[in-house]
Amino acid sequence: MIRETLQELIRKACVDLNFEVAEITLEHPENLEHGDYSTNVALVLAKKLGKNPREVAEEIRSRILDTKYQILNTSIEKIVVAGPGFINFFLSPQYFLKETQEILKKKEKYGAGSKKKKVIVEYSSPNIAKSFGIGHLRSTIIGQAIYNLYKFLGYKSIGINYPGDWGTPHGKILYQLYKDLELRGKSLEDQKRMLQNLTVSSLEFFYVEFNKDAALDPSLEEEARNWFKKLEQGDKEARMIWGQTRAISLKEFDRIYDLLNVKIDNLIGESFFEDKMDQVVTDFKKKGLAQESQGALIVPFPNDVLPPAMLLKSDGTTTYFTRDLANMKYRISKWKPNSIVIETGVEQILHFQQVFLASKLIGYTKDEELVHVFHGLYRTKEGKFSTRKGQTIHLEDVLREAVDKAREIIEQSETARGLSEQEKTEVAKAVGIGGIKYNDLSQHPSGDILFEWDKILNLKGNSAPYLQYTYARCKSILRKANLGSLSFLRLRFTKFEKEETALLRLLYRFEEVVQEAAEKFSPNLVCNFIFDLAQRYNLFYNTNPVLKAETEEAKNFRLLLTASVAQVIKNGLSLLGIKTLERM
Ligand code: ARG
Repeated sequence: MIRETLQELIRKACVDLNFEVAEITLEHPENLEHGDYSTNVALVLAKKLGKNPREVAEEIRSRILDTKYQILNTSIEKIVVAGPGFINFFLSPQYFLKETQEILKKKEKYGAGSKKKKVIVEYSSPNIAKSFGIGHLRSTIIGQAIYNLYKFLGYKSIGINYPGDWGTPHGKILYQLYKDLELRGKSLEDQKRMLQNLTVSSLEFFYVEFNKDAALDPSLEEEARNWFKKLEQGDKEARMIWGQTRAISLKEFDRIYDLLNVKIDNLIGESFFEDKMDQVVTDFKKKGLAQESQGALIVPFPNDVLPPAMLLKSDGTTTYFTRDLANMKYRISKWKPNSIVIETGVEQILHFQQVFLASKLIGYTKDEELVHVFHGLYRTKEGKFSTRKGQTIHLEDVLREAVDKAREIIEQSETARGLSEQEKTEVAKAVGIGGIKYNDLSQHPSGDILFEWDKILNLKGNSAPYLQYTYARCKSILRKANLGSLSFLRLRFTKFEKEETALLRLLYRFEEVVQEAAEKFSPNLVCNFIFDLAQRYNLFYNTNPVLKAETEEAKNFRLLLTASVAQVIKNGLSLLGIKTLERM
């Protein structure tokens, strides 16, 4: 990467001059007139040395120029000392041209890395017998983007879906199902048949019913606990009913993943850790890290940096925390990852602080990087979600509505006129679902996001359809040019129009953006970048004819630019899990 080469160049010059610097910061100046990169090392050094910063900057600049490195001829046009003592670097037209060729050569691999590390990304993780909520949608979308980013950078990435399929709530559902469906006395076969046609919403209904009843009759809680105990002890009936509720839920969730076009490598739910929690409790007891408290077993933290967490409840059952510890232990020993990233809602911050710290204390994890990426809420202008039919929200309906709405837009669009029915269906799906994903990803995960159809599907705004449309426009130009391969074009074209330069000076930054987005777990940086790129392309396109350019050379160059922009938009969207379309 050019950034690293420049950093090395500056560092080398400083070493030669006996200037000690810890870090060479390089920024892209807001204003391109100040160059493509700018460093403030001279300012930092001057302060330390009690010298004039501009003089220090000049010294470093001359030293760099003296080195006569190849890159100074090929990639850097000029180096300028500016303002109070910044050193600004201007990249050369040759560099930009070479980079566009690189884009066309590497295609969908452009921007990719070759890091040899291993990362586990856990995301989605909906709860069995409960509807797949908006929070789980966010986790699925954001988690998938993070997974994609790391994979693209060369990491061995392990995706995990960790559904909530264990714990006392399942006792409640079992109790209620058993009672309401009158399962008592029936054979397992008959029971199974009676459960078969249930849906997740009906399962949720039983849960709500239970809570209503239990509010009036607290003894029901005891019944639910007994059912969960039976489940834990492997009672056949309890196991079968639970297994059915799990299968029904997972099947329904799969429909959502299909719609979203998401596939998660591994499905390892909470129940998987059922037989691994005893060992966790033993580990903590043995190391003296657990304490009795009012009949329960808790893990206190040194100096009370965090409130204690519960390992065993007073009735002896395990908790969400216990399972997550077993989970950490298992993941580390099975995969030996360099980092574990978990995506959930913001309300679980404390939980993961406790889990991460406790796993360190006990030694399940050592110097692995443990990251909790959390997302904020979903809001609508009215404050509450409802579908077209005015019902309370059901996620699958929202996704289908997005596709329907996209379809309406396509029916009215001129460019979509020649498309077949099947193509239109495909476009509608990519645009609708892409719109929902982009709306989520274009903001930093931790913030709340607003759900507004007009924004999600706005062909003119910062949205997936706008980017998909820009991409399709590029592709249409390239089709009309009918060039075959562009990469053979020999270009010596060095006098660029303003809008062309703006594009060139943006394109090469894609690699950096991808890296930063992964490091900061911020897919929104990729969104910002490709949106900026698309806007600049459209600006360029509106003022500079491509197919009707003044000279053959200019035309070829603009085609090259068009193809590069299209490729980078495609790579960016693909990282976000959003499809591009050749026509729309
Ligand atoms: N099932 C949980 C929920 O819906 C999310 C699981 C998060 N992951 C974890 N390792 N605890 O709230």
